[in-house]
Amino acid sequence: MPPGVAFASGHFTAENIITKTTRSGDLVGVFHDEAAWRALPAGTTIYQVEMLPSPDGEGELFVGTTHLNPGRVGDEFYMTRGHFHQRREQGEVYFGLRGSGLLLLQSEQGEARFEQVSQGSVHIIPGNTAHRLINTGSEVLSALAVWPTIAGHDYASLAQGFALRVFLWEGEIQARGVQYG
Ligand code: 6PG
Ligand code: NI
Repeated sequence: MPPGVAFASGHFTAENIITKTTRSGDLVGVFHDEAAWRALPAGTTIYQVEMLPSPDGEGELFVGTTHLNPGRVGDEFYMTRGHFHQRREQGEVYFGLRGSGLLLLQSEQGEARFEQVSQGSVHIIPGNTAHRLINTGSEVLSALAVWPTIAGHDYASLAQGFALRVFLWEGEIQARGVQYG
């Protein structure tokens, strides 16, 4: 049997799945409200990435699903760290499996935009584009991704953060521009 995806849960139906958990304590400097981040137990799971085993090397592809929990740090919705690919020109495809949220995309010039992620949504992330998932809903946001194994991750270039952040403000989902001084 080839691997599959259980649509209701977004989990892979395959053996030998590799899972990586990212906890609150791993996300130093990621959320806007540092006091709220410190108040959260460091072991709180923010997201998990499940990967199918796949070969490494030029021309090969990774397949992985991110399961991003619902929640907020202060007023800011849970999100992935976000990254450019180390090989900048390498793109990626995201596919919404369950839940609802936003895919934040940002060019190297710092221009940021959102795509709405929901069950069945397809997102083509071009090369040279940083990407982050944000869970603005009340259930787990799961999105399957396919990307070249050679892509790698560059987190350092976004150490200052993305140009937009997403908050729950007076009961509404609100995106705000970030001023860097
Ligand atoms: C990738 C994918 C995806 C991503 C996860 C976690 O290139 O590997 O975009 O699997 O890594 O959503 O996000 P962070 O890597 O930004 O923590
Ligand atoms: Ni990526």
